[in-house]
Amino acid sequence: AGKAFFTDNLLTWNREINTRTMPWKGEKDPYRIWLSEIILQQTRVEQGWPYYERFIQAYPTVAHLAQAHDDEVFRLWQGLGYYARCRNMLAAAREIATRYHGVFPNTYDAILALKGIGAYTAAAIASFAYGLPHAVLDGNVYRVLARYFGVQTPSDSTAGKKEFTQLAGELLDKKQAGPYNQAIMDFGAVVCKPQAPECPTCPLSTQCLAYNTDRVDQLPVKTKK
Ligand code: ADE
Repeated sequence: AGKAFFTDNLLTWNREINTRTMPWKGEKDPYRIWLSEIILQQTRVEQGWPYYERFIQAYPTVAHLAQAHDDEVFRLWQGLGYYARCRNMLAAAREIATRYHGVFPNTYDAILALKGIGAYTAAAIASFAYGLPHAVLDGNVYRVLARYFGVQTPSDSTAGKKEFTQLAGELLDKKQAGPYNQAIMDFGAVVCKPQAPECPTCPLSTQCLAYNTDRVDQLPVKTKK
């Protein structure tokens, strides 16, 4: 219940109220989207931003990255940590160069098959670059959905992953997959935050199960690992 209200009001919030700006927002180049999403997997926006800019300067296209020397690329990555991310990007760039003649693949399955790209990153690239109807699921999305729909299934359990995946797919505005995905991530970052969420001014609060049962601070539920 409240699914149409959720999607409509989220998109309206994004259009009329969301002022968050980031260099990769609205980007259509799959290579740039890929780079930004890989950086943001384990790095905060403020920290990742200058790395993103330097990377694009040094390697403006996936073909440039494919031809780069490993040590030079790793030097640009220095300070971000989790070097497997960088190693996988290089391998994938070279795969794109040889297998796809330097043209980034444009189907969800081909994107997902690239080294270091999981369901989240594939959905982000497919929707932002190509408008393909794949819903992103990350920590932001789990939190927003768990609160609004009062989902108590742990988001890191097998049952939870299935339930949230199903729900996220139903909510996605398939004609506006890119803006919808960007909106829900921004909403989780600036309104439905982990700590001190902005419930009093939230455009979804009238239908939010957690808010209306005073359980915002108890959701999302995570299994103790
Ligand atoms: N975190 C990861 N990707 C993001 C994006 N595209 N926008 C906002 N936050 C993000």
